[in-house]
Amino acid sequence: MELTGVDSRLLDTRRAFDSVAAEYDGPRGNNALIQRMRQQMWRTLTDLFPRGARLLDLGCGPGLDAVYLAANGYEVVATDWSPRMVEVARSRAAAAGLHIRAEGLGIHELARLEGERFDGIYSNLGPMNCAPDLTAVARACAALLEPGGHLVVSVMGRICPWEFVYYALRGRWARARIRSARGIVPVNLNRHTVWTAYHTPREFFRAFAGEFELTTYRALGLFLPPPYLIRVYERRPRLCALLGWLDDRLGGLPLVRDGGDHFLAVLTRRPRRVASDQPGSPRSPSRERLPVS
Ligand SMILES: C[S@@+](CC[C@H](N)C(=O)[O-])C[C@H]1O[C@@H](n2cnc3c(N)ncnc32)[C@H](O)[C@@H]1O
Repeated sequence: MELTGVDSRLLDTRRAFDSVAAEYDGPRGNNALIQRMRQQMWRTLTDLFPRGARLLDLGCGPGLDAVYLAANGYEVVATDWSPRMVEVARSRAAAAGLHIRAEGLGIHELARLEGERFDGIYSNLGPMNCAPDLTAVARACAALLEPGGHLVVSVMGRICPWEFVYYALRGRWARARIRSARGIVPVNLNRHTVWTAYHTPREFFRAFAGEFELTTYRALGLFLPPPYLIRVYERRPRLCALLGWLDDRLGGLPLVRDGGDHFLAVLTRRPRRVASDQPGSPRSPSRERLPVS
């Protein structure tokens, strides 16, 4: 069977993550800078959802979030496009004595969950950047959530000053510019290719605007360096403590929150459309205006 361009890119990405799954919860995938971002996601999720809520993890990787949430009383269905990541997530849950349903399922395949309902969906640290069609993802997520349900995502942004300066200083101009590219670009991971689409918050929200209201968003890792520059963080602890403080204090401010290694956003499922919601009728007010250009 002949593969389309999208299919072959998805398979490249799967191979890349399969190749790192065994060690992904070590320093590569869970260093102090990543843990900092992860803590923000955990705080957001536990503030938003009561214990016992049924949550869907998209791109669960080795299952750190799923296991943390299950250990704290949530019912989690963990999914990932990489079968090896799913195996690691299952083993992690089993080792913790927890029951988690973990499935090999791509974000582009959510229709396979048709008929299921979740109180919330989350996707941490970039799986959404690998989804080929965000508008289709938005529709699929909306079908799995009740009105008022939340989608919480951390997504790699397109404006990362640290990354640009770091590679530009080394004369690696092509690498320095890769984030600012529109569309899908090949990014090296363990000598494999992860096909990645970086998004500004505004571009990302545009794909979700039909089904979701934007509730809140903030930058993650704007003043602090990105996780792969963990050496900088470890060598300059006092400076980085200050940068971390700036991230925490200023990362949610208008304009500031549009930059950074990732952005963390909460979107809320709109009420289902009724006849009076048709074009021309007044719409329910957004909690935060979608910054669509
Ligand atoms: C950077 S890792 C993050 C993993 C995890 N969410 C975490 O926070 O540790 C990205 C994950 O996205 C998964 N992924 C990539 N493309 C995907 C897709 N189309 N659908 C679902 N998962 C995908 C990868 O297999 C990988 O596990």
